[in-house]
Amino acid sequence: MSDRLPGAPGAPGAPGAPDQPWRDKYLVFGAPTLGAAERAEVMACIDSGWLGAGPRVALFERRLAAYLEAPAVVAVNSCTAALHLALRVLDLPPGSEVITTAMTFCATANAIVHAGHEPVFADCDRTTLNIDVEDVRRKITPRTRAIVPVHFAGRPCDIAPLLQLAAAHGLAVVEDAAHALEATVGGRHCGTFGDFGCFSFYVTKSLTTVEGGMVAPRDPGAAARLKSLALHGMSADAWQRYSDEGFVHYEVVEPGFKYNLTDLAASIGLHQLTGLEERWHRRQEIWRFYEEELAGLPLHLPAPPAPDTRHALHLFTCLVDDARTAVTRDQVLARLHALRIGAGVHYRPVHLHPWYQRNYGARTGALPHAEWIGARTFSLPLSAGMTNQDAADVVRALRHIFA
Ligand SMILES: Cc1ncc(COP(=O)(O)O)c(C=O)c1O
Repeated sequence: MSDRLPGAPGAPGAPGAPDQPWRDKYLVFGAPTLGAAERAEVMACIDSGWLGAGPRVALFERRLAAYLEAPAVVAVNSCTAALHLALRVLDLPPGSEVITTAMTFCATANAIVHAGHEPVFADCDRTTLNIDVEDVRRKITPRTRAIVPVHFAGRPCDIAPLLQLAAAHGLAVVEDAAHALEATVGGRHCGTFGDFGCFSFYVTKSLTTVEGGMVAPRDPGAAARLKSLALHGMSADAWQRYSDEGFVHYEVVEPGFKYNLTDLAASIGLHQLTGLEERWHRRQEIWRFYEEELAGLPLHLPAPPAPDTRHALHLFTCLVDDARTAVTRDQVLARLHALRIGAGVHYRPVHLHPWYQRNYGARTGALPHAEWIGARTFSLPLSAGMTNQDAADVVRALRHIFA
């Protein structure tokens, strides 16, 4: 920290002062919070001589299933892989239409494409930023076979009406719960309502294995096929082949992928899971601080959670209220950066990325709400490892930017 008090008259960051950084250290957006237990387990794993998928992955899966109260989970090396596997295991006719939200990370749509299907984008709600169930209804055609809703920023989407709609039209549901490990509806975890729930353990997520993810099938019978497809379509995994119980031959039962998680990654994940709720409570403190301190600024702040739901508090996503300020979202990002504060954009809508425009012909104006959000949205740092001073710096920076 600099010797000068942040925000003092004439100091960098005071209203009217130029954008000069007052922080010594850049506040990294999405920085993970890892501790001594993760370090020790990584060293123990290295010393064990077994780093690939093995007993630590198996233990991690059992604990994740217990946390989610899910019948089974399969750990993989990303949520992208989880989505791809879930869509493959559904065995939909090639070229099926799969409806998803435009307000998501490109991986959601890319996985649909890689599974051999056509993503159809639904618009979203301007307040919750989640998929608009009525627009999903409008987008259903005779070729529609599945819906991939996203629990955006950790806020549960309208899962009950979506499930009803899916049931009425015979559609599968794959929940993209990349943001939503801690999220619940009626006490039940997001990601356990649909046919499959897919989660991310990427480095910015509330539980990280650096890269990683999992797929939770509603039917535990699907776990064996998911596991096999995650490892080349082989009938026996590496731990079964090389463990101290003796060599086992494998057979390839279908051409699979290389999506398995490693024991080295699970070493981190096991202890990240232990600290998950504590980190959620710390993020809640920062979340409430932001809500209180940013209330007067020309921003739309995250909507309060719906009754009987729990928000995973993954992203504190604000929208610049251009009715009240001439400062644009991109100016906010640049000026936060100049003040040494990292921020994110979640998201510019997927249907307007060049490949999607070229292949599916969507034009600006096709999904007005997603596009409206995409032009105004930015996310603030919300890591459990942030200090009160870090959070205060973020608030002070925004007050300065909008002064
Ligand atoms: C909504 C959403 N879906 C899928 C993914 C893909 O996750 P991963 O990086 O673990 O593949 C992400 C990643 O951030 C995401 O935000």
